[in-house]
Parts: sequence; C-alpha cells; structure tokens
Amino acid sequence: MASFNASSNPLDFLRGCTVDFDLNTGLSKKVETGKRYLSQMKGMFADEAALEKKIADEGDSLIYEFHGLPVPETPGDFAFGCSILNPGKIGDEYYFTKGHFHTLLETGEVYYCLKGHGYMLLENPEGDWSAQEMHAGEAVYVPPRYAHRSINVSPDEQLITFFVYRADAGHDYGTIETKGYRKLIVERDGKPEIIDNPKWK
Ligand code: NI
Repeated sequence: MASFNASSNPLDFLRGCTVDFDLNTGLSKKVETGKRYLSQMKGMFADEAALEKKIADEGDSLIYEFHGLPVPETPGDFAFGCSILNPGKIGDEYYFTKGHFHTLLETGEVYYCLKGHGYMLLENPEGDWSAQEMHAGEAVYVPPRYAHRSINVSPDEQLITFFVYRADAGHDYGTIETKGYRKLIVERDGKPEIIDNPKWK
C-alpha cells in the first residue's frame, strides 16, 4: 500500500523530502552548518585594524552561518539552504558574507529574504554591478556570471535568506578573496551608502 510519506529519511534527495529550516533545531542535528567567524574574514573588510581590534576586544564571534546539505551535485538537482547573517560592522562597513562566483560561471541563483533588511551585491567579471535591496518577502534573482554577496544593514536584526541554485554550480571564493568587490556598503549618517572599494585590485 502506498504511503503518504515519500520517505522516512528526512534528507532523501533521491525520493523527495521535507526539511525544517531552523538552524537551531531539527535540521541542524542532521546536516553540517558552515560557520564563518571574524578571524575567518581577515583581509576581506576595508578596515583591517578595526577587525583585529574587534577580535581583541570582543573575541572571535560569529558573522554568519549557512546550511551544507548533501544534495547530489548533478545538473538536474538543486542545492538549497538558508543563510543567517548577523548584524554588525567592521569600522563603518556592514557585516557581509564572503561572496562568490559559481565555478560554472553561467549558472544563476535565487535568494528569498525571510527576515531582516540587507542587500545582495552583484558583480560580473566585466565590471557590471548592482546592489539589490532585500526585505522579508522579497526575492533576488542572481543572473549567471554574477558574483553574489549578502550584506546586513540592520542595526539589530539578523538577515535570513533561503537560496537555491543548480547543484553542480560549485563555488569560487578565491576570486573575491583575492580581488575583492568593486563596491562596498558602509554606514554614513546612519544609512547605507555604496562607495568604491579602496582596496579593489
Ligand atoms: Ni551562489
């Protein structure tokens, strides 16, 4: 007799599954969550001295975390998960995720904002860029070829996004780690402002 349950395995990507996206409860017991602490973001913020001072004063605190689900990495599968970016600043620069190109450059991604207020900073190898503002309930389309970085501009609220992309896309973090982004988002007079990155190579 057919069962209502496609599978008893909560992470059955071959037969279908339903998962709970609370990083603090159910799912986090079953999957790896990636975590990025201040010390892992050295060299990425404009004000390196402010980053070192923050670590010395407050310890090596968490900037963001995200799911690492074991979805098969095939062209027909979709990788998906949530990213949780804490509020905070290094100097006047808002906390961000490292940002990446896809190894398969011609693959896009969708981010849906579940909570908070932020931006998705987009930049392609030819130098075109944009900053897409995100509030809860809004989706951002990341086109093929564009690097993408989430930035939390809220003073006190986490930025939580759900993402989905072609599962074999792969991640190229190195290009951004080496070159940086052309633009930064900093706080000026209490509001987000986009400026040129003085360290862009
Ligand atoms: Ni991506």
